[in-house]
Amino acid sequence: MENLHDKRKIYDKSQLLENQIKENPMEQFRDWFLDAEEHPAVSEANAMAISTVENDGCPRTRMVLLKAYTWEGFIFYTNYESRKGKAIENSNYACLHFFWPSLERQIIIKAKLEKLSENLSDGYFASRPRGSQLGAVVSPQSEVIPNREFLEKKLQNLEKEYENKEIPRPENWGGYLAKPYEIEFWQGRPNRLHDRIIYQLTEDFDWKISRLAP
Ligand SMILES: Cc1cc2nc3c(=O)[nH]c(=O)nc-3n(C[C@H](O)[C@H](O)[C@H](O)COP(=O)(O)O)c2cc1C
Repeated sequence: MENLHDKRKIYDKSQLLENQIKENPMEQFRDWFLDAEEHPAVSEANAMAISTVENDGCPRTRMVLLKAYTWEGFIFYTNYESRKGKAIENSNYACLHFFWPSLERQIIIKAKLEKLSENLSDGYFASRPRGSQLGAVVSPQSEVIPNREFLEKKLQNLEKEYENKEIPRPENWGGYLAKPYEIEFWQGRPNRLHDRIIYQLTEDFDWKISRLAP
């Protein structure tokens, strides 16, 4: 057994106080996201974990890339028939998670997911590099496949089929909009007395702001 008992960091880079936070959590998200994007040690600020609940009742988490955020919520793209796609069909509640260690910050978002309009998914798909477009067409995401050659052969065939042609977005590939109803901002502080500010959507569609004990 490797003992990790002494592996601990002192968090002292910043603080999150009631008098500095925004009233709307999407504005607060924007502030923190811009800090992460500008930070030289954060390499993919838009990488986020998303947990969905599967049929056995257990959440399952994987990373995806945040591709846009608006007043309404967070947008990412994937295969609708993937494992996450099937889980979302069953329960459209999901938890998104950002952790930026260099800033000693995490954000935890509970959200309801809906598919993006076909128009928006088409627009984003058309903007992707050709290789990524082909990859989306080639890969039956989350299915068991016989070997790597299966994908590479399929890619070769598709490259021929679509030579000098536009690649249409596969119907089973597109975006989701995750509409938040709870967002927690966590800032590491010394002595494990971290700052935790949580925004919860009320019935009147206002955001109630509370502080949680660390
Ligand atoms: C940093 C990072 C970013 C990723 N971005 C995406 C993404 O935007 N969309 C996607 O479908 N998969 C993305 N993946 C792959 C997913 O983590 C996952 O393997 C895939 O979506 C299949 O997940 P599922 O079988 O749970 O549905 C990313 C992986 C990593 C590590």
